[in-house]
Amino acid sequence: MQKHESNENIIWHQQNIDKNDRTMLLSQKPCILWFTGLSGSGKSTIANAVEKQLFNRGIKTYLLDGDNVRHGLNKDLGFSESDRVENIRRIGEVSKLFVDAGLITLTAFISPFRSDRQIARSLVGYDEFIEVFIDTPLDVCEKRDPKGLYKKARDGAIKNFTGIDSPYEAPQEPQIHINTNKLSISECVDKVINYLIKYGYIQGNENDYAI
Ligand code: ADX
Repeated sequence: MQKHESNENIIWHQQNIDKNDRTMLLSQKPCILWFTGLSGSGKSTIANAVEKQLFNRGIKTYLLDGDNVRHGLNKDLGFSESDRVENIRRIGEVSKLFVDAGLITLTAFISPFRSDRQIARSLVGYDEFIEVFIDTPLDVCEKRDPKGLYKKARDGAIKNFTGIDSPYEAPQEPQIHINTNKLSISECVDKVINYLIKYGYIQGNENDYAI
């Protein structure tokens, strides 16, 4: 990729409407729910179900999903270490824009490297990045193998497959730790929604308190 020679002639333009204005208009507190976990761990499934719950509560959201974003914005990227770093760098930047737009932004990417998730975190405010670890053991993901990719990776037909011949660095202190082996999908969703209510990102309703 060609690097721009210099940024010195590019001056930041102050816009009239900022994040605070948009947040007030939308009456919600934006953040990134950053789902991380192995392929087949359930990131997309849970993120989708969380987004649906939020949508039903009238919250404005956007979900960025690894497989989908790789059909468009990131279709030039593969799975080498440097391409994955670039994948997550772009998603961090796009998520930051969505937070600036006032949305609760959900991302579902393996994002295997701790340092990349840390960079994504550093782009937004301290309380605007919520790391959600979808903790599903490799053998369970491999047994599920919803896309048949683990089999291909074991057969050597896919190289650099996370968990097989490419590493996954699990979060050490995720804000939300979800063990999919022990919880149903709706219990996983409740865990995320309860966190958002508890820390004031969204407001609960009577049904939440009836539980
Ligand atoms: S990441 O590592 O760069 O964060 P991302 O979440 O965008 O990965 O994409 C992962 C998805 O791409 C997997 O769920 C799987 O469907 C597919 N995929 C294809 N090749 C690979 C590979 N070598 N390693 C991991 N996932 C792969």
